[in-house]
Amino acid sequence: MSSLPLPVVVLISGRGSNLQAIIDETRERELPIELRAVISNSPVAPGLRQAHAARIPTYVVDHHEFATREAFERALIEAIDAHHPRLVALAGFMRVLGTAFIDRYAGRLMNIHSSLLPQFPGLKTHARALAAGVVEHGATVHFVTRDVDVGPIIVQARVPVVADDTPDTLAARVLEQEHRIYPLAIRWFAEGRLSVREGKVLLDGRRQAAQGLVDRD
Ligand code: GRF
Repeated sequence: MSSLPLPVVVLISGRGSNLQAIIDETRERELPIELRAVISNSPVAPGLRQAHAARIPTYVVDHHEFATREAFERALIEAIDAHHPRLVALAGFMRVLGTAFIDRYAGRLMNIHSSLLPQFPGLKTHARALAAGVVEHGATVHFVTRDVDVGPIIVQARVPVVADDTPDTLAARVLEQEHRIYPLAIRWFAEGRLSVREGKVLLDGRRQAAQGLVDRD
């Protein structure tokens, strides 16, 4: 493990509760990272205030100001690369990213998704889980690859679906787990403990129960 903290840039679009969990883990439990910048595509994202309160530099790259996705992503890349991150963490970043962007940060681009992937990729995961009648739901941290929400899974957390759950009650139960597993995945990455082999993420060279994964093969 390197003794220098890992430089990280976090991308957000909204509330920023996962960002706050990463900030808290860094400040209170010695997550070995340096949060160099928080970048939002929305100027009104509440998460910007949290970053500001934690004295992390904030930037807005507003997608509305660009004629094409390519132009937006070029500006986003410029804003990110100015901070030389070794990890780019998407934390509720609500823009679909193009291949040039994803390829540039291959192996060091992480996302948190509010379902047990590969179930329920995309939006409205909690309502869809309830409509499907699943008994178990959860969250996934994964490396980002070219297809949306299908990259190699680093860690998952499961929660039960209970009688009378609404999308909001279920979301709150899942969110609590998101705040646990995103800092954990970042810690493993910062400690150099993650590798990817044949599309699967290994922790210390093996598939581990701590990753919460059910090996289906
Ligand atoms: C989280 O549920 C995350 O899984 C999803 O978007 C939401 C962002 O929440 N990708 P927050 O902005 O981190 O509070």
